[in-house]
Amino acid sequence: MIGFAGYQVIHEQLSLGTMVAFVGFIDRLYNPLRRLVNSSTTMTQTLASMDRVFEFVDEKYDIDDEPGAKELKHVDGRITFQDVSFAYDEKEAPVLKHINLDVKPGETIALVGMSGGGKSSIVSLISRFYDVTEGRVLLDGMDIRKYQVRSLRDKIGMVLQDNILFSESVKANILMGRPDASDEEVFEAAKAANAHDFIMSLKEGYETKVGERGVKLSGGQKQRVAIARVFLKNPPILVLDEATSALDLESEHYIQEALDILAKNRTTIIVAHRLSTITHADRIIHIDNGEITEMGTHEELMKKQGHYYNLFQVQQLDS
Ligand SMILES: Nc1ncnc2c1ncn2[C@@H]1O[C@H](COP(=O)(O)OP(=O)(O)OP(=O)(O)O)[C@@H](O)[C@H]1O
Ligand SMILES: [Mg+2]
Repeated sequence: MIGFAGYQVIHEQLSLGTMVAFVGFIDRLYNPLRRLVNSSTTMTQTLASMDRVFEFVDEKYDIDDEPGAKELKHVDGRITFQDVSFAYDEKEAPVLKHINLDVKPGETIALVGMSGGGKSSIVSLISRFYDVTEGRVLLDGMDIRKYQVRSLRDKIGMVLQDNILFSESVKANILMGRPDASDEEVFEAAKAANAHDFIMSLKEGYETKVGERGVKLSGGQKQRVAIARVFLKNPPILVLDEATSALDLESEHYIQEALDILAKNRTTIIVAHRLSTITHADRIIHIDNGEITEMGTHEELMKKQGHYYNLFQVQQLDS
């Protein structure tokens, strides 16, 4: 936990502006951190996670811009995976194998499949948390490695499995989506995210301090703050990695409603665990063991009675 505590101290001292610059870094931290936090319940696991800390400290800070990388300005929102393979570690087997996928501007696609199949890995390539090992990821026909990584991430809004909030006010956390926004715009974003009412019920409203050192928000509340941040940012591309952990029913309803609105008029990629939330997606892609095994609409895939159909049946039985 050394790394995490250290990071807390660091960002306590940062101004909002610096914090925004820090978000790219947090993105990069996100995966190792999540694994670290998830694996610290028992002593043996803690020891295992200590290894992770040191591994992480040795890791490169972030992906570097290529020489001559351009600033990404206008985005139509077409995302193309061209024969993409990816391994987290060159010495290990690839976790994604020959992925070919063309997402049209404004399209909503859902990635589904068994745990460990590679769904989160696919979306992490779009924001260049990692670069592909083979093949290319294109945005509007251009290899994303040709762009400055900061300018690329500016165009992508993300709501992830665990949303890390800063030890700052709720308002500062939302403002990170667009630091120059007015109070009115922050409130509007929070309303659209179905977060305004619960924020107003906090002791100090929007000024309430949250995160590690402040009021502890529920998973669903944190997620709604993260959604408000993305509403404020208003990016042309949206990436949602749905929470696996069961949210309370009320939160789930509010979140779903907000996300459906958020997904309108932008290219959206949703990693879905609960299939009931994505039956309306333009296309559903079933991923298994690093490969695309099925692709189609809900109706098409149900008719096919293959992987998606089976997954759907299992979830119907569970609920
Ligand atoms: N940071 C990482 N370093 C090394 N291996 C990783 C890392 N993240 C994921 N993996 C491995 O890559 C494979 C694909 O994982 P990924 O997280 O993409 O699956 P997923 O489909 O999102 O699963 P889930 O439904 O559980 O979220 C798994 O074998 C996983 O162990
Ligand atoms: Mg995942």
